[in-house]
Amino acid sequence: MMDLQTLQAQCSVCRRCPLCETRTHVVFGQGVPDAEVLFVGEGPGQSEDEQGLPFVGRSGQLLDKYLFAIDLDRGRNCYIANIVKCRPPQNRDPLPAESEACMPWLRDQFRLLRPKIVVCLGRVAAQRLIRADFSVTKEPGLFIDKGGVLFMGTFHPAALLRNPAQKPDAFADFTALRDKIGEVCTHTY
Ligand code: URA
Repeated sequence: MMDLQTLQAQCSVCRRCPLCETRTHVVFGQGVPDAEVLFVGEGPGQSEDEQGLPFVGRSGQLLDKYLFAIDLDRGRNCYIANIVKCRPPQNRDPLPAESEACMPWLRDQFRLLRPKIVVCLGRVAAQRLIRADFSVTKEPGLFIDKGGVLFMGTFHPAALLRNPAQKPDAFADFTALRDKIGEVCTHTY
C-alpha cells in the first residue's frame, strides 16, 4: 500500500467531481502519518482553498485553540481532513454527489492512518460518517464504536464563532476527548 504523500500527489490532480473546476488548491489534509486521532471537517473555505491546507482561516484558529487546550497539535500528534477536498462555491454544503465522489480519498486516508478516534466537526461530517440523522447538539461527547474505531461528533468551529453560547459544550466534548485519548491511544500523549 502506498503512503500518504503518494496519495496526496494523486489527489492533487483529482477530477472526480465538478468542484475541480473552481478550486485553487486541493486541500488533502494535514498532520502526522502516525496520528491516532483524526478530525474531519466539511470542506475547504476560502482561506483553505487559497493555501491548500485545512482549517487555516478563522474557524481553524479556533480549532487550534481547542486542540492546544488538550495537548493536540496538527504538527505533532493528530491529523485533520475534510469530507470534500475542494471548496464548494460560496461555501455551500457539499452536494451528496460531491461527497460520494470524494469519499474514496478519505477512505484511503483512513486505511493509511488507521486512527483510533475520529472526531467529526459539524453536521456534514457527523451525518456522513456516523449516522444520517446524527445531531451534534443532541448527542454531545458520545463515542460510537464502529468496527473498533471510536467516532465522536462535535460542533463545527464556524458554528461556535456564530454562536459562542455553545463554546462550553464544545469544550466539554474536548475534555471528554482528552480522557478517551488517555484510555485508548498509545502514543498521542
Ligand atoms: N471548514 C471546514 O469544514 N474545513 C476546513 O478545512 C475549513 C473550514
